[in-house]
Amino acid sequence: MSQSNTKQQILDVLKFAQDQVRRLIQNHPGFYPLYTDQGKWKHDKPAWTRWCDGFLPGMMWLFLESATADEPDFWRSNAEHYSAALEHRKEDRDVHDLGFIFYHGTYKRWHAATLRDRRPDHKLQDVVVRAGQVLAMRFKNNGQYLRSFISDESLFIDIMMNVPVIFYAAKLTADPGLMRIATQHCLTTRRTLVRGDGSTSHEGIFHLQTGQFLRQTTHQGYRDDSCWSRGLAWSLYGFGTCYELTADPRFLNTAEAHAQFYLEHTPAHGVPPWDYDAPQDGRLSITQPDSSAAAIAAVGLFNLANLATDRVRALAYRDAALRIVQTLAQPPYLAIDDPNWEGILRRGVYHIHKGLGVDESVMWGEFFFVEALTKALAVLS
Ligand code: GLY
Repeated sequence: MSQSNTKQQILDVLKFAQDQVRRLIQNHPGFYPLYTDQGKWKHDKPAWTRWCDGFLPGMMWLFLESATADEPDFWRSNAEHYSAALEHRKEDRDVHDLGFIFYHGTYKRWHAATLRDRRPDHKLQDVVVRAGQVLAMRFKNNGQYLRSFISDESLFIDIMMNVPVIFYAAKLTADPGLMRIATQHCLTTRRTLVRGDGSTSHEGIFHLQTGQFLRQTTHQGYRDDSCWSRGLAWSLYGFGTCYELTADPRFLNTAEAHAQFYLEHTPAHGVPPWDYDAPQDGRLSITQPDSSAAAIAAVGLFNLANLATDRVRALAYRDAALRIVQTLAQPPYLAIDDPNWEGILRRGVYHIHKGLGVDESVMWGEFFFVEALTKALAVLS
């Protein structure tokens, strides 16, 4: 496909994304979904943990940032409305996800929008800083990590996507304590959850009294020693962002090791199985993809293409990211061929063991797919 055809395809998909988000907020005003059930956002299945609320307004900010918004005033007022309703979450001590909500999704993007308008509102930035300070309260001195929402002894790979909000707060407040916490968390994750082949473990368990690292475990992956593809994608994107914020070469090396694993182990179309070590058959089969892992990895790879010092590797990351986007931009992943399906991207997985959001649309998959589309557009322009 020529570059201009690919660009038009991406613009068409961004239009479809806006149609689906508009349909969601018009059918269910004020509702922040996590995952669909048989293609429908509204259902009574459990959340497990409340970490996704920033992604719905986040998509609206992305439509505006990429200048693809079909109704800029509509998206701006909804982006502000759906973001403002989350401000109280900056004090949330129950989740490790404040970076998803405030750094990736809402207030950091809102602040950037006021800078683009040349009417900076720095109070919006204060909300992001507070979220970073609150997230840092999860730090366990024994063990040197930010604890997951599960328990004090637990470290999750997912937190790599959230630690940037602490670096951000550290820089804006010139607080060396915050900088130390964020750096130590990254180094502990790298030492305990990142394996020699570039794969990742989902969770690490620590001894609370001594801080000793005890073992790798999982909640959403196939086995304790397997590589859950979304965890890998979180770490790839997360370490890349931490490098961008700190210029610490250890973080770039780690992100590149993940990229290498992703490129070597993912099918040529770019969408990984839900777990790279899943069995061939049965309910947990490796034939189940996770489109959300692909969307996250695509953004992580676009970012790495700008960060990598080696030009050949940088081009390989960019090409791989474009390939993922092109695969996701059509059925069976893109839900454009089913008017009854309410999501944008099919074939995501939330929690396969609990039977939550399996082969469905998932809100973070929607968000990172939209982010990947906007990055692809920038590369092709
Ligand atoms: N809890 C984050 C995830 O499901 O990836």
